[in-house]
Amino acid sequence: MKIKILTSIVGLWLLASCAAGLSDSQDLQEQKIRQIISEMTLDEKIGQMQQSNDGFFGDDEATKQAIRDGKVGSFLNMVGAERIAEFQRVALEESKHGIPLLFGRDVIHGFRTIFPIPLGIASSWEPDLAQEAMRVSAVEASSMGINWTFAPMMDVTWDPRWGRIAESCGEDPLLASKFAVAMVKGFQGDLNDPTAVAACAKHFVGYGMSEAGRDYNTTYIPEPLLRNVHLRPFKAAADAGVLTFMSAFNDLNGVPTSGNEFTLKHILRDEWGYKGMVVSDWASIEEMIAHGFAADKKQAAEISVKAGVDMEMASTCYADNLKQLIKEGVISEDLVDNHVANILRVKMEMGLFDKPYDNHVSTDTILAPSHLKVSRELARKSMVLLKNNDNTLPISKNIRSLAVIGPLADAARDQLGTWIFDGNGDDSTTPKEAFGEILGNRMNYSSGLEYSRDKSTKGFAKAISAAQNSDAILIFAGEEAILSGEANARGIIDLPGIQTELITELKKTGKPLILVVMAGRPLGIGAEMDMADAVLYAWHPGTMAGPAIADLVFGDFSPSGKLPVTFVKGAGQIPFYYYRKNTGRPATENDVVYIDDIPRDSKQLSLGFKSMHIDYGITPLLPFGYGLSYTEFKYDNLKLSSKEMSTDGAITLSADIRNIGNYEAEEIVQLYIHDKVGSITRPIKELKGFEKINLKPGDVKNVSFELKAEDLQFYNGDDYIIEPGDFEVWIGPNSDEGLKGSFVLK
Ligand code: NOJ
Repeated sequence: MKIKILTSIVGLWLLASCAAGLSDSQDLQEQKIRQIISEMTLDEKIGQMQQSNDGFFGDDEATKQAIRDGKVGSFLNMVGAERIAEFQRVALEESKHGIPLLFGRDVIHGFRTIFPIPLGIASSWEPDLAQEAMRVSAVEASSMGINWTFAPMMDVTWDPRWGRIAESCGEDPLLASKFAVAMVKGFQGDLNDPTAVAACAKHFVGYGMSEAGRDYNTTYIPEPLLRNVHLRPFKAAADAGVLTFMSAFNDLNGVPTSGNEFTLKHILRDEWGYKGMVVSDWASIEEMIAHGFAADKKQAAEISVKAGVDMEMASTCYADNLKQLIKEGVISEDLVDNHVANILRVKMEMGLFDKPYDNHVSTDTILAPSHLKVSRELARKSMVLLKNNDNTLPISKNIRSLAVIGPLADAARDQLGTWIFDGNGDDSTTPKEAFGEILGNRMNYSSGLEYSRDKSTKGFAKAISAAQNSDAILIFAGEEAILSGEANARGIIDLPGIQTELITELKKTGKPLILVVMAGRPLGIGAEMDMADAVLYAWHPGTMAGPAIADLVFGDFSPSGKLPVTFVKGAGQIPFYYYRKNTGRPATENDVVYIDDIPRDSKQLSLGFKSMHIDYGITPLLPFGYGLSYTEFKYDNLKLSSKEMSTDGAITLSADIRNIGNYEAEEIVQLYIHDKVGSITRPIKELKGFEKINLKPGDVKNVSFELKAEDLQFYNGDDYIIEPGDFEVWIGPNSDEGLKGSFVLK
């Protein structure tokens, strides 16, 4: 084990600060930072602001020389535990100031042990478990030398076309905030520990609103929506101590977010007092040229450095131009010093100056049984039961024979989902493997289609015969990992290829049809849901997909996930999110006129002058918060501690939840409000709390929520306000149902 020896500068500084009687450790840290900066050349400072991809400087010898020369502050995508340790050794022992490096990597939903995609993780509504999963990820990643992850992504999105919805926690700002905080805590853990991995709040901000879901696209977000929705997870993460932020790719209201002074300086630094560091997204500074916001790399550097981006990822606008910009008096060296201070602060908070840099390098933690256990539990809890007619599920392990069909039944790599740099399909247990293990030759497997987009019916006959020879059919349909994630936007959100045709053929066998969807986005599956007797939405569940699905299908556990995003009927219904506004002409079910019912020779001017679609109607396929169980829960006895709340007060709301079915199961109890009249119009519902409970058959639990006046605060265009008035409130199983009450905020 090698121990880093403190440089003489730091030793001297420590002596000096002790002599000055400084006791506050943060003051000491700031002094230490300023001391180091005062001894750095301008080139070395600019070097700290550069994050380069592995191989950028050439081979490993050239890379070491670049580190010795202080040309780089961080690397991304560097692999190899020993290699990383050696580079860190060079930085600490052979570079002039002994400044350690940050080694960044996209550890998004697992390192080698892969958890469900974040949208699946959010479906668990169990932030504590997400925290545990990200801790596992940090333990595995740090064992390979990674000390910084570009996660969690906390972009709120309403758009299933956007491929990165897979990486999000869905449409709700409260749910996204809770998961953002939990994941930050999981990754960072105890910063003094060698397994700490700095987290990154990304993508700041508004990226989830890319036009039409086309990645990297324009966003227009009025300030109330920005503050009431999109900024909230970032603020929560900043308050929870996230060490870094990433500026995004998108143009926000005409100003690219990697050069956006309003968000990066005014909000993040001045308003929130954030002291961590901001890294650009990959080349997002240089991309301001393509945006038409900077004429060249030099102007791009000027804009971003002034706006507040500390470190440039991948491109070299800073490295090539900051010195010249200072020389010309366009920016000051003080500005650069402040950026470098933000970077060094993160390195110090992480303890990288002092931590032994290779004592934790080991591979024995990778895929540890305890890690796989968390992965299986989270996968199980991420799955959402969307339909279960006549208790089709669960099925008995004693079933005579079960047909396992579909292109996703044995997709070892694809079940891991998007953004898994270090995940490995060979580590996966697929549904085919898990069901085969349990059923042996009572499983009749036939893929039917080789992959989701396969257009050939040549496998249909075998699949149909497997179904005919079985007591029930389990079909695994969906999308491969490549169809979601960064840049992978879809305009059509239905099941790809001819999977629907396969399901239609299987339906004709008359056997119970259980559809398991494995996908990176909420797909438009209305027609398939109509055909299936039961539907389990499994997202991309990760390494343990097979065992987790078997746990649920055979009833060892009841499904408990709930949707973190509204399921639309088709892409034309987008955007459709539960906290939409009421409009001046809201339609009710009775108002809806469907296209097929309009008389051919209708002379009507309009179909009722209401806000609706004449094909989709007014409801989504499934509402936010929805999810079934093998048991049934009854909500009763809503109580409010008072019908009045003062503007600095709180009330308690409670309800009894009873398990009136036959299965022990978990239920996610949700609290919603509606602010009836506001100085700006208010959403028809807003989630204000949730709690997961476990109930045995016959058991009842009283669930209570404290609702504070400050929870009712919103930004109205001028300020954050708590506005007196009438409120409706619901405690229920999803955003569409629940026990309703009311109170007045006075
Ligand atoms: C671009 C992506 O937008 C970002 O999320 C990721 O962390 C970086 N590339 C680095 O891979």
